[in-house]
Amino acid sequence: MKILILYVTVHGATADCAHRLAAALGENAEVCELKYFFGDLSQYDCIIAGAPVYAGSIPKDMRTYCRENRDTLEKKPFAVFFSCLSEDKNTIQEYLRHNFPGGLAEHAFACDSFGGAFYFTKLNSLERAFDRTLAKAYAKASKTKAPDGTADFVVISGERITAFADRVKKAVKLPA
Ligand SMILES: Cc1cc2nc3c(=O)[nH]c(=O)nc-3n(C[C@H](O)[C@H](O)[C@H](O)COP(=O)(O)O)c2cc1C
Repeated sequence: MKILILYVTVHGATADCAHRLAAALGENAEVCELKYFFGDLSQYDCIIAGAPVYAGSIPKDMRTYCRENRDTLEKKPFAVFFSCLSEDKNTIQEYLRHNFPGGLAEHAFACDSFGGAFYFTKLNSLERAFDRTLAKAYAKASKTKAPDGTADFVVISGERITAFADRVKKAVKLPA
């Protein structure tokens, strides 16, 4: 049983989510950033795509890759996770439909958001100012402490990652 977790990331949060998911899935999981993946999808029993959301869209390279490989992906158990701030089920479904080709979006047996992060310590001053505004709005809406823009702001949910891993294990018939 080979499970491939293929991800793209801009600032690192999706990479963090992907590695945490791989740890929850155990030895059957292999994790790889899309730009370094030169393998053969048909060699895997299950494929999971992970991507961040920016203004409703995921990075173009993941959209293109899934479109170009949709025939192979539609023949296997396929699931999607987003690293993003929205947790609303309808919004997550909308991100899935908007970013993946129709048949593939419907084929996904699981799709969820694991939460997101702003790594302020790695950003330049312009990015930090912009991201701080977004993170502040999120903190206000979710009634959590507003970030000061100096320390990293991480709202990745271990619970959601574990629940997603359990769904994957069930789908590919791995012991829980
Ligand atoms: C400019 C910008 C736009 C964003 N747009 C969205 C969005 O539309 N929906 C959402 O839920 N999160 C949004 N986010 C939050 C990111 O998806 C989140 O920070 C994510 O963890 C980034 O992942 P990465 O570090 O792998 O790139 C946005 C963040 C930024 C900086």
